[in-house]
Amino acid sequence: MSDVLAFVDANLGRFRAELYDFLRIQSISTQKEHEGDMRRAAEWLAERMREAGLEASIHDTPGHPVVLGEWRGAGESAPTVLIYGHYDVQPPEPLDEWASPPFEPTERDGKVFARGSADDKGQLYMHVKAVEAHTKANGKLPVNVIVLAEGEEEVGSDNLVPFVEKHVERLACDHVVISDSNMFDEGLPSVLFSLRGLAYFEIHVKGARSDLHSGQFGGTVVNPGNALAAIVASLHDADGRVAIEGFYDDVATWEDDILDGIRALPFDEEEYRRSLDVPKLGGEKGFTALERLWVRPTCDVNGILCGYTGEGAKTVLPNKAMAKVSFRLVPDQTPERVKELFEAHVRKVAPEGVTVEIKALHGGRPWRTRPQGKLVDAAGKALEQAFGVRPVLQGEGGSIPIVVDFEEKLNASALLVGFALPGCNLHAPNEWFELAAFDNGIKALCLLYENLA
Ligand code: BES
Ligand code: ZN
Repeated sequence: MSDVLAFVDANLGRFRAELYDFLRIQSISTQKEHEGDMRRAAEWLAERMREAGLEASIHDTPGHPVVLGEWRGAGESAPTVLIYGHYDVQPPEPLDEWASPPFEPTERDGKVFARGSADDKGQLYMHVKAVEAHTKANGKLPVNVIVLAEGEEEVGSDNLVPFVEKHVERLACDHVVISDSNMFDEGLPSVLFSLRGLAYFEIHVKGARSDLHSGQFGGTVVNPGNALAAIVASLHDADGRVAIEGFYDDVATWEDDILDGIRALPFDEEEYRRSLDVPKLGGEKGFTALERLWVRPTCDVNGILCGYTGEGAKTVLPNKAMAKVSFRLVPDQTPERVKELFEAHVRKVAPEGVTVEIKALHGGRPWRTRPQGKLVDAAGKALEQAFGVRPVLQGEGGSIPIVVDFEEKLNASALLVGFALPGCNLHAPNEWFELAAFDNGIKALCLLYENLA
């Protein structure tokens, strides 16, 4: 094993340089104009997988390609680990808020700044390098490995479920390992016990046949902007709870040891508030910030469009309004049930005089596990060895929709161990990844594969 870790140490400079090449590819899955870049990223990744000793293949889907890298030389008695990650990234806008260009990786203060550095190209690439360290230093891996990299995580993974269903046998594995989340804090690694799910909608409100003069018509027709505001305002009560009937019915209660564990984590709400530059934290009354993030569901407006928003004043009565509204779900809520409840609520509160339509965009189920057993022990030891401190257990407020499908369809248990840091600007300007976490994380992954064998 020391050869493998020595290989990592000796090659860290090259690993980083390669990652920066990966980060230069503008693999933005949601934008049509980047379709070519998506393919280039898939091909680049497949080539690096081959260099790492994996047999790589690219699989077309109705959307962006899936890249598979396989090594099955450990034999049938050894476990098979499926490593999942994504090579697509979020759009970088607003561009003028980046201190250095989003697709020109730049090192500052022990971090690399670039879109995708943390989410998820940097973390996916750590696995490729951990695999390479084993194959180059030892000529083999301690476990059978399948690396599955998708290009549609940021747009809901719609084509991945059919891909997994079609290739259940090829993807058969004992464990799924995913690095697409955070450590608890700088120098403090963690293993996840949960992810929230997602249910995402658009509310379209339509009024008169066209925009109208707000003086000539105001007071006689219902303004879609006012109507949408009323609908949005009806979604929460004064205690910050979601005011949709039945919304909390399926919210599971959590085991005491998990709740005690959350309370024991070194987390200062005041420091968190300051780091976000807000005058006061918000959310559901009666819960701590970490509980509100990890074990409670939420409802948030993601965007609103209506009327005149240009320079100066325009007296207009707009004829349409639209809001994007999403829910983060916790076990045992489902996107389907929340859709029913949300639609019934909007029907009930929508003012007369306008037509209201709801469009459902993507969703994903929440995930939860009892973090114990061989997989978590192996990860705990590996992280402790590489970072010099015992990892903590934590939940996560974000979503990775495919995790539940992996567990169900492949009948395997998932381990979520991420290396990004809180505050690393995922989906925002100036996304960064800590270089020390990249280096130590690769070693932790090398040790993890070893411990699983
Ligand atoms: N890596 C994130 C999930 C995540 C976010 C983990 C924050 C840990 C902390 C992932 O790429 C992501 O952004 N997922 C989307 C899923 C959605 C598009 C279905 C999310 O959570 O919004
Ligand atoms: Zn993301």
